[in-house]
Amino acid sequence: MDRIETARLVLRQPVLADVPALAEINADPEVMRYIGDGSVRTADQTARGIRQVIGDWAERGYGMFSVDRRDTGEYLGWVTLAEPIFLPEVLPAVEIGWRLGRRNWGQGFATEAAREVVRFGFESCGLDRVLSIRHPDNHASRRVMEKLGLHFDFQTTVPAHGLPAMVYSISRSEFAW
Ligand SMILES: CC(C)(COP(=O)(O)OP(=O)(O)OC[C@H]1O[C@@H](n2cnc3c(N)ncnc32)[C@H](O)[C@@H]1OP(=O)(O)O)[C@@H](O)C(=O)NCCC(=O)NCCS
Repeated sequence: MDRIETARLVLRQPVLADVPALAEINADPEVMRYIGDGSVRTADQTARGIRQVIGDWAERGYGMFSVDRRDTGEYLGWVTLAEPIFLPEVLPAVEIGWRLGRRNWGQGFATEAAREVVRFGFESCGLDRVLSIRHPDNHASRRVMEKLGLHFDFQTTVPAHGLPAMVYSISRSEFAW
């Protein structure tokens, strides 16, 4: 399955044509504040990232969904299922993550999209557990995790940059189908 529709959104596989809109999002320091060490991405880095995730879909059968508004077709950002390789202690695992352009925050879009991606993970990919990992100060992400039914497991440190991270998870049996 490579396309999911919700009340307001279309979730689809990423394409290279997403690069300009995503590059704009990735260049916003407010968006990137709690991602990795907080640095913004160049357009080249964004293009490389999109090529990588297109390859991931072919290899794994899951990956990043680009998220568009159904009514206007606007590209809002993405929700992804990915391996959290930045946190080796939790592996093997699959993490859900999200990133939207700032002008579209606060309207429930991330939760609406992510709920269907968690369902996709359990229903179509055979996953038993989905993790999500956030910086302790990222309260918008905390709320999305809570609204999806994920629970806090433990706090740890990301080896690459030494910053704290809070690990949440939900199992298939806990998901509110
Ligand atoms: C995280 C993100 C995807 C959320 O997108 P969104 O579409 O605004 O999310 P939703 O509208 O579904 O839910 C956001 C919730 O966070 C709450 N929120 C937002 N900012 C908050 C803050 N500073 N403190 C507390 N709650 C906050 C909102 O009120 C809402 O909760 P509510 O429904 O209980 O009111 C978006 O903020 C984003 O792209 N951030 C930058 C990238 C990022 O940090 N990604 C996650 C890395 S772990």
